[in-house]
Amino acid sequence: MPAITVTRKLPQAVEDRLLSLFDDVRLNPSDTPLDAAALRQAMEHSDGVLGTVTDRFEASLFDGVRARIVANFAVGVNNIDLEAAKAAGVAVTNTPDVLTDATADTALMLMLMVLRRAGESAALLREGRWEGFSPTLLLGASPQGKTLGIVGYGRIGQAMAQRGAALGMEILFHNRSRVANPAVGRQAASLAEVMERADVVSLHLPGGGANAGAISAEMLALMRPGTALINTARGDVVDEPALVAACASGRISAGLDVFAAEPTVPAAFLDMPNVVLMPHIGSATEETRTAMGMLAVDNLDAFFAGRTCPARVV
Ligand code: GLV
Repeated sequence: MPAITVTRKLPQAVEDRLLSLFDDVRLNPSDTPLDAAALRQAMEHSDGVLGTVTDRFEASLFDGVRARIVANFAVGVNNIDLEAAKAAGVAVTNTPDVLTDATADTALMLMLMVLRRAGESAALLREGRWEGFSPTLLLGASPQGKTLGIVGYGRIGQAMAQRGAALGMEILFHNRSRVANPAVGRQAASLAEVMERADVVSLHLPGGGANAGAISAEMLALMRPGTALINTARGDVVDEPALVAACASGRISAGLDVFAAEPTVPAAFLDMPNVVLMPHIGSATEETRTAMGMLAVDNLDAFFAGRTCPARVV
């Protein structure tokens, strides 16, 4: 029977299912993230590793190890050196679809929080600074009639586009390949067009590879004063120091769920009233995290039973 290492604590129903399917399951009840040596150990002494975004599966981790599959608990796989996995004949799976709505909901939440100055409003009240209703207190911006720019028109980008359209926003999207008959919105000629024209830009492109730094200082400079950037994708797709500078000047606002070097958050963001910060909770609902875990287990189960994995990347 295959030995499975699980790198982080998972919802109980998922751990129960793993224990019912496999005889040798090494769980992580303390949820302490594995360091590089512990991850190497896991790859050397198990047949399958159920990992996630906090595990960096670098090329060296695929060298001469026992593991035949990495089942990633995430849709993004930028934490895994896919080329090295392929070369070593190690399968990689992910958890698409089941987190689409939860992640788009987080993008919508961040957008509304930024537009309606929700962070500032909550802080004012909690800090005892509220002096009662005022017609001009904390005026934000209405989404209706504004343009929502979507960068990356995949599953989550489309789900966010639908949410924006439901609020009465115009949708303008950028996608690497041409989209025939988009259900919602219009495809822009370029990323620059979205950055220039949108009132809110929401990022939905995978991290790593060619996308690293795609939202460069030059792209950020195209955003008009008073506009907002929402990121529920990956921190590395944005030039983070340039984003800090753009927000510090007050030119743009931001709603961020992801950062370039998590869990480190640029200290300057912490004092900015025009920036809403979340600790990478894009898919964090009971239902969604359980569904993601079940899909990761389905991938492992199918792999070791010699069936096609439902979501195989490599
Ligand atoms: C989480 O960030 C994911 O990629 O699923």
